[in-house]
Amino acid sequence: MIIAVDGPAASGKGTIARALAAHYGLPHLDTGLLYRAVGLNLLQTGGDPESEFAALRACDISQIDFADPELKSETVGGLASRISAYPTVRNALLERQRTFASQPGGAVLDGRDIGTVIAPQAEAKLFVTASPEVRAQRRLAELTRLGLNVHYEDVLADIHARDARDRNREAAPLRPAEDAFLLDTSEMSADEAIAAALAAVESPL
Ligand code: DC
Repeated sequence: MIIAVDGPAASGKGTIARALAAHYGLPHLDTGLLYRAVGLNLLQTGGDPESEFAALRACDISQIDFADPELKSETVGGLASRISAYPTVRNALLERQRTFASQPGGAVLDGRDIGTVIAPQAEAKLFVTASPEVRAQRRLAELTRLGLNVHYEDVLADIHARDARDRNREAAPLRPAEDAFLLDTSEMSADEAIAAALAAVESPL
């Protein structure tokens, strides 16, 4: 079974995807990390994010340590959002994601375009949302836990900017697949959101 979990930044899609993967014993891929790795690579090599060519060169992420906490920073998240608008960058990361999705037994992938582009054949598709304010609070808590010193207003502004970029880009914009189950987690605890996601997977639309 392939499960596609899409949604905007800090909507809770990662938590839900990890829980579904554990429940069904499936491998999980956080596809945002791939774009973040390209962003971090660009940052470390001094490449210009305005240049699609430089961003494409940064797609060789074999040297990136996926445990590096810097991958989770807002700077790298912002860079990931910018370079993910380039069609050549999306294309460079496409095969890896499709291969992961189509492995025997299935997989859970979370991102922005899993249900629409990477795995439109997925048996279960969730589109997870929450209000920008709730998402900013959650991201603030996560970053503070990681020891980063950040302010709510800055995180909220980043969320708004990232939403606008992810939704309005031409290449694979953030949008729910027609057959996706919409899950608004604004008023839910993590456990409630996971329970609602499980129920949705168990009884498809
Ligand atoms: O989910 P995230 O915040 O880690 O993702 C970082 C950025 O990567 C996001 O702003 C847009 C981009 N991204 C994408 O374009 N497509 C995906 N499937 C996953 C992430």
